[in-house]
Amino acid sequence: MEHLVNAADGMKRAAAILRSGGLVAVPTETVYGLAADATNADAVAGIYAAKGRPSFNPLIIHVDSVAMAQRYGRFDGRAHRLAEHFWPGPLTLVVPLTENHGLAPAVTAGLNSVAIRQPSGPMAALATALDHPLAAPSANSSGRVSPTMAQHVAADLGTKVDLILDNGSCPVGLESTIISLVADTALLLREGGLDRSFAAGIVGPLINPKPDAHVAAPGMLSAHYAPRIPLLKDFAKPMPEGMVFLGFGETMREPGLNLSPSGDVKEAAHNLFAMLQELDRSGARSIGVAAIPHHGLGAAINDRLQRAAHGSKE
Ligand code: TXA
Ligand code: MG
Repeated sequence: MEHLVNAADGMKRAAAILRSGGLVAVPTETVYGLAADATNADAVAGIYAAKGRPSFNPLIIHVDSVAMAQRYGRFDGRAHRLAEHFWPGPLTLVVPLTENHGLAPAVTAGLNSVAIRQPSGPMAALATALDHPLAAPSANSSGRVSPTMAQHVAADLGTKVDLILDNGSCPVGLESTIISLVADTALLLREGGLDRSFAAGIVGPLINPKPDAHVAAPGMLSAHYAPRIPLLKDFAKPMPEGMVFLGFGETMREPGLNLSPSGDVKEAAHNLFAMLQELDRSGARSIGVAAIPHHGLGAAINDRLQRAAHGSKE
C-alpha cells in the first residue's frame, strides 16, 4: 500500500494506524510532526526509536482544543489568554501536569510539566478522531533539519513511519515558539513561528533563559538542525571552491538559493529548511549563509542557523 498519501484522502487510515499504536507523519502549520497516541507507551517509545531521540528530551502533545489541553496541563490566566489569542497556531505552552493525566511517562521524560500545542489542520483533526492528544516531535532524525515537505520525511525516516500524510509545504516553516508558564515569570524557551513581540501585551516581558540554564527546553541542544555539510553563518568572504550560497534580499551570490529576494523574513522562514535540505543534497562541500536581520521571525531564523553552524560536521 502507498506509504505517502494526500492528507485529505489518508485521514481514516491515519486514525486507524494511530489507534493501533503506529506512527504517522502529519503536517502542521510549522513543520511535519511524527505523531503517536500520547497515552500509548509503546507507540511513544516508537517515536524515540524512529528518530534516535535521547530519552531525556520530552515531546509536545498536540490537542484539538483548550478543553482537551486542560485534561493534561494546568492552565492559569496567562495560559488561557495566550491560547485564546494564538491557538490554533505556532505556539507551545509548557504548563504544570495535571494529576491522573494518563500520558505515557516518556512523553514528559519524567518532568512535572507538559508542553502543549493546538495546531491547525490534520493533526488537530486526528486528535479529535482519537479523543486523545498526539505526541509529535518534528519528523526528522534527531539533530537533523526539520521537514517542511512530505518528501523530506520520506527521504529521512523512510519506512520507520507507517504512513506519511502529504499536505504540501508547511506555511510557517519553523517550529513553534515555546513559552514556559511553570513559574511566575514567563520564559521564552524557544524562538519559533510566532513573532516574539506578540506576547508582551499578554504575559508581560518574556525572559530568555541562559543557554545552559536547566530550565531551558531539554531539546535545545546546540548541535541541532544540522545539514550534513558545514554551514557558515554571516558569510561575507570570497566563496571557496565547492561552496553554495544561501542568500537574503540583495545579498546573493552564485551558485545558490535566495531565502527571500524581496528581503521578507516571513518568506525566508517559510523557505529556510527546504532550501537547507536542497543545498545539503546538491553535492556542494559547504553552505555560506547571508546575514539575516534579527527583527520579527529573523530571531528564530538566526537561532536555527546558529545551531546548524554548530552541528555541521566539519
Ligand atoms: O512546531 C513544533 O513545535 C513541531 C510540530 C510538530 O508541532 N514540533 C517540534 O517538536 O518542534 P520537537 O520535539 O522537535 O521540539 C519540542 C521541544 C524540545 O526542545 C523539547 O525539549 C521541548 O519542546 N519540551 C517538550 N516538553 C517540555 C517540557 N515539559 N519542558 C520544557 N521543554 C519541553
Ligand atoms: Mg525537532
